[in-house]
Amino acid sequence: MSDNSTIINGDSLIEMPKLPAESIDLIFADPPYWMRTEGVLHRVEGTEFQGCNDSWDKFNTLDDYESFTLQWLRECRRLLKPSGSLWVIGSMQCVYTIGSAMQHLGYWLINDIIWQKSNPTPNFMGTRLNNSHETLIWAVKDRRAKFTFHYKTAKALNHEPPGKQMGSVWKFPVCSGSERLKDSNGRKLHTTQKPLALLERIIAISSNIGDTVLDPFAGTMTTGAAAKKLGRNYVMIERDENYYAYGEKRLDEISFADTEIARADFDVKPVKVSITEMIEAGFFVTGEKFYLKDGHEYAKLQSNGKLLYQGEILDIHTCAALAKNLKAKRVNGFDYWHVMRGNGLVSIKIIRENYRTKKEE
Ligand SMILES: C[S@@+](CC[C@H](N)C(=O)[O-])C[C@H]1O[C@@H](n2cnc3c(N)ncnc32)[C@H](O)[C@@H]1O
Repeated sequence: MSDNSTIINGDSLIEMPKLPAESIDLIFADPPYWMRTEGVLHRVEGTEFQGCNDSWDKFNTLDDYESFTLQWLRECRRLLKPSGSLWVIGSMQCVYTIGSAMQHLGYWLINDIIWQKSNPTPNFMGTRLNNSHETLIWAVKDRRAKFTFHYKTAKALNHEPPGKQMGSVWKFPVCSGSERLKDSNGRKLHTTQKPLALLERIIAISSNIGDTVLDPFAGTMTTGAAAKKLGRNYVMIERDENYYAYGEKRLDEISFADTEIARADFDVKPVKVSITEMIEAGFFVTGEKFYLKDGHEYAKLQSNGKLLYQGEILDIHTCAALAKNLKAKRVNGFDYWHVMRGNGLVSIKIIRENYRTKKEE
């Protein structure tokens, strides 16, 4: 697998303009939240809570934060390919400013997703509701964009409920235990390291193997780790030297895991085949009978792949709807017709699968 990945230790507002326009397939941005925390927070038992009170999260005014937000979002727009997707994560402190700026810049919103934290930090003082979620905004460059979405892969990844259409509330624990990177003193390296599983889900459903994923606020490089594991290239930008160094080491230790999810195999559309080519290949015989499941009603196969039924020549889909006396004018004929093989009826869907397998050999 070709690797055009790079990590940059620098300021995104300076580094992003150096990258070529329309070179990125997917951007995940976890920008400074501008949390506006004051003082030291203590847990109920008195120990100090290491929340996000970092220098990289400080801004003076809402105007400053808005101007910073517009600047990096504008660059993201320049870097994204026309089919590219932008995902941004934020808390209540910033997500409304970001969402508004995105719309002003012309982004088209696809979904907003609630990441419900299954193990949120409690509200130690009991002074307001416990903040147990963050919001993700998924957007594209404009409403006509043909963006990547692996619908069936999303279904396969869904665990609540398993295998069902994926919704917009995602439950994951916050990053903890061995996944949480520690500094040389054994303290958590980064206050806002995101769960790898969250990034894997985003990258798997909205990009392809070999695509390039950019994160302008890479932190511990969770986005790069997920991208590399899924066989995507990555461009990670992080200003802080320490995070950059730990992130670089983390990426070195990750390798591509070739899985159905990484390849989005669930979404690969089978090759289209026609009845006529199956006749030519000897899988059907002109003049043979196509039966409905009960074996009573039948139609006769013509050399042009259509069926003769009650004096009419019809394609297999229209003919199935008519023979079944359905309200719909057309259904998928492969779901209804059977042919006699040996002593019994076999669905033409199975015959088509056998033909596809033969074709691939
Ligand atoms: C919310 S954290 C991202 C955490 C990351 N998603 C992870 O899983 O580790 C934001 C990061 O952006 C970095 N940062 C802030 N402003 C930056 C800028 N202008 N250019 C590059 N990095 C910046 C901070 O140092 C911080 O590590």
